[in-house]
Amino acid sequence: MFSDGNPKSEIMLIGEAPGANEDQEGLPFVGRAGILLDKMLAAINLDRKKVYISNIVNYRPPENRRPSDQEIKRYLPFITRHIEIIKPKIIVLLGSTAMNALIGDEFVISKMRGKWIEKKFGNFKTSVIITFHPAFLMRQPAQKKMAWIDLKMIREKKNKLNI
Ligand code: URA
Repeated sequence: MFSDGNPKSEIMLIGEAPGANEDQEGLPFVGRAGILLDKMLAAINLDRKKVYISNIVNYRPPENRRPSDQEIKRYLPFITRHIEIIKPKIIVLLGSTAMNALIGDEFVISKMRGKWIEKKFGNFKTSVIITFHPAFLMRQPAQKKMAWIDLKMIREKKNKLNI
């Protein structure tokens, strides 16, 4: 299924698509990017058992390429319904594929990260924040300081919402 965590979670994280390790295990973020994601979560006292993790596209695109617009469009009803079922109080979009798929193609992540957005998915409205994808942070470690700002915002919101 490529989703993981407690379906009663108040926090939902959404990535791009499974990679090779995820494909083998049938779980999201279990490879190198997942190890960094776990560390990011631990930095704000969260672990993956307390959050719900999914992806925009639920299969591994050939050669690990970015999902095509057509693939994203095909999966959009599934992730939207998924959000409606989980009803998270906070959604964290990891990277530009998740941001463009769910917020809009016109946005760029450098301008959109680190801001709270109120957004409706189907018939469910919630708070969304965008941050860098852990795989991007592994390639661009200098951006980790920006991700840390986003993580602290998530921690603050989580405390405010008492979750
Ligand atoms: N990258 C993603 O976007 N999702 C995964 O599940 C693993 C790596």
